[in-house]
Amino acid sequence: MQIRHSTALVTGANRGIGRSLVEALLDRGAERVYATARRIRTLDSVVELAPDRIVPLALDVTDRRQVQAAAERARDVSLLINNAGALAMGSVVDAPFELVARDIDTNYYGPLHMIRAFAPALTEQAGTRGAAIVNVLTIVALASMPGLGAYNASKAAAWSLTQSARATLAGAGVQVVGVYPGAVDTDMIRDFEMAKTAPSVIAQATLDGVETGAEDVFPDAMSRQLYEAWRADHKAVEHQFASM
Ligand SMILES: NC(=O)c1ccc[n+]([C@@H]2O[C@H](COP(=O)([O-])OP(=O)(O)OC[C@H]3O[C@@H](n4cnc5c(N)ncnc54)[C@H](OP(=O)(O)O)[C@@H]3O)[C@@H](O)[C@H]2O)c1
Repeated sequence: MQIRHSTALVTGANRGIGRSLVEALLDRGAERVYATARRIRTLDSVVELAPDRIVPLALDVTDRRQVQAAAERARDVSLLINNAGALAMGSVVDAPFELVARDIDTNYYGPLHMIRAFAPALTEQAGTRGAAIVNVLTIVALASMPGLGAYNASKAAAWSLTQSARATLAGAGVQVVGVYPGAVDTDMIRDFEMAKTAPSVIAQATLDGVETGAEDVFPDAMSRQLYEAWRADHKAVEHQFASM
């Protein structure tokens, strides 16, 4: 599908990759962008980017009532971008259970609620101007980093959800794209000392994937290198991550 003249909805649009996605959508001619965030005031500076094209909405993706209300409000969405995410530090043995549950709620149930709520609108749009769902995953969905025990699992579940949704909605003509970034320069991994990719690069590669009909997008050098290594020998990547 083409971004030009589309109507997009981005979760977690107030900062990081979500904000870059809004900017890239505007650059490529999206007609309307529903920029959503848990606290609507955090969207003020995003709305200023294009007050006539951006519609701010309060949306916590773990709150099914809010998700349903957003789907009723934004019936014209043709591109749903599930970007909001949470990351708990710690292993499966020692991460606080509340944070483990928060990662699953945000990273797995969040996109699941969104896909279920928006499937009717997307199916309707697919018949006219094309429709797509993007799930922002991570390269550690494919092989686990032990220090991110809960996060890996939540994103691996979301990867599985991505594949199921793709098959389920294929007949309706809705494209489903998984995006698997490596390290990105946002608040999420602010304290990690490592090479990071700018969020704008992730946003552009994601929209390229939507426009070219991709199923999977490996949007940065780290992501592509790890994906190739995983394809060649997935156990080697598991062992590499285990030693980090
Ligand atoms: N940064 C990386 O290295 C990296 C790598 C691979 C994948 N990713 C993925 O990229 C996506 C965006 O992350 P980011 O790097 O941009 O991180 P970020 O700067 O920490 O932003 C996270 C966003 O998610 C929102 N969010 C968290 N819980 C939410 C909820 N329950 N409902 C709605 N919004 C919620 C946050 O909103 P608040 O402002 O209200 O907290 C914020 O807008 C995530 O899915 C993340 O897993 C990031």
